[in-house]
Amino acid sequence: MNLKAQPFIAGEWISDDRESLEIKNPFTQEIIGQQYLATEEDVERALYAAYSSKKEIRDIPSVKRAKILKKASELLEQNKEKFARIISSELGKPLKNTLGEVDRSIETLELSAEEAKRLHGETLPGDASERGLHTIASTHRVPVGVVAAITPFNAPLNLVCHKLGPAFAGGNTTILKPAPQTTLIATELLKLLLEAGFPENSVNMVLGGVDTGQQIVRDDRVNVISFTGGTVASRNICEIAGIKKVLLELGGNAATIVHEDANIADAAQQCAKTGYSNSGQSCISVQRIYVHKSVLDDFVPQLKQEVSKLKVGDPLLPDTDVGTLVDEKAADRVIDWIGEAVSSGAEVLIGGEKKGASVDPTVIVNPPKQSKVVCQEVFGPLVSVIPYENLEEAVEEANDSFFGLQTGIFTNQIDLAYKVAHELEVGGVVINGTSNFRLDHWPYGGVKDSGIGREGPRYAIQDMTESKMIVLKLPK
Ligand code: SIN
Repeated sequence: MNLKAQPFIAGEWISDDRESLEIKNPFTQEIIGQQYLATEEDVERALYAAYSSKKEIRDIPSVKRAKILKKASELLEQNKEKFARIISSELGKPLKNTLGEVDRSIETLELSAEEAKRLHGETLPGDASERGLHTIASTHRVPVGVVAAITPFNAPLNLVCHKLGPAFAGGNTTILKPAPQTTLIATELLKLLLEAGFPENSVNMVLGGVDTGQQIVRDDRVNVISFTGGTVASRNICEIAGIKKVLLELGGNAATIVHEDANIADAAQQCAKTGYSNSGQSCISVQRIYVHKSVLDDFVPQLKQEVSKLKVGDPLLPDTDVGTLVDEKAADRVIDWIGEAVSSGAEVLIGGEKKGASVDPTVIVNPPKQSKVVCQEVFGPLVSVIPYENLEEAVEEANDSFFGLQTGIFTNQIDLAYKVAHELEVGGVVINGTSNFRLDHWPYGGVKDSGIGREGPRYAIQDMTESKMIVLKLPK
């Protein structure tokens, strides 16, 4: 594989004379491509191009926007294997997961196509007010103008589709800055969108790091920033963005509760399946499992057994369950955090070792509340089992976090599950499933430091459009 990741600005692919970086497969360390970084002038040109094209894109009828998005989803379906292989090579995410990610991206584009045709307003009769007799108002959804999409490495295709799909469906131009670790897949996606009929001036892409992102965030020609990433970067975005809408999909240290009456075999299987996919690099990956003391001796061996079945290895092999982390530095950090938990009294039940950028699927039992594996976002193949005496305590501990994205609860009592669901301070609760379950048409997002706003094309389009009111004064 020898691919090229390039900025796309004002309808042109840019690479000549730009600083370039090698792209390596994190499993084999083989060089698989080059990425060309945008200069400050390139970013300025991209901003200008996005801003100056917004009227033209706004005026494309929604039926046409929908057809283009539908075509993009069809093209992706035809290129599924190719796209999955690029993500696996660039990120170390197993083919099992990346094929699933491509399937989800196909759906995200299709949902965006459908939503493009549902940009509805309402009519507001004026006679609800004495002053409004003989008037009528109607609201219309209009594009915000320019959407800046800043995307992460962990789901580098679907999370880009979750921004570019709704932005275009809503009639906006976009400026995309993908994660520096996954620029090859972003480049391939952009080529596909253009082939599907996205007008050349509807989307720009710049490649770069923090400075590039900050230049976009600060710029007043941008109307909405849609960011997925870490909490530290999000604070910086909020400080420098000025007056513009900021949508944030941030991290988590997701909890899953296994109550005394749960189906333990099912809970153990689901926790093993969803705690380690993509090496735990998902904001809703199972991280803290609160288990009722009475079922601990049943749950723990079953979880260990399930985790021991996971196959660690080459992400490009079809039977690999756990590939690498994004790079070796990330793997070293996870190992350090395991060390910290162990030195404060936790026990490693299984795993705890690393090889290159891969970390073995790890289960830790009884880590202290203050340890990093409990109170920070691990973003690695590591879950902690924490026993509890009563459900109130489990809910309190699950809520004792800066984050609040999703939580799972396993119990056979539906009334109890609903009660707990209402008490949990998160954006979503999964009953009889783990925190790590998302369908792309559902509203997805968090509370507290996990973010602001909801993804899912239907919800994102609301944030990427404004309500405009038009008033008609009728003859008396
Ligand atoms: C994320 O890490 O927030 C993405 C999770 C998902 O889409 O499954």
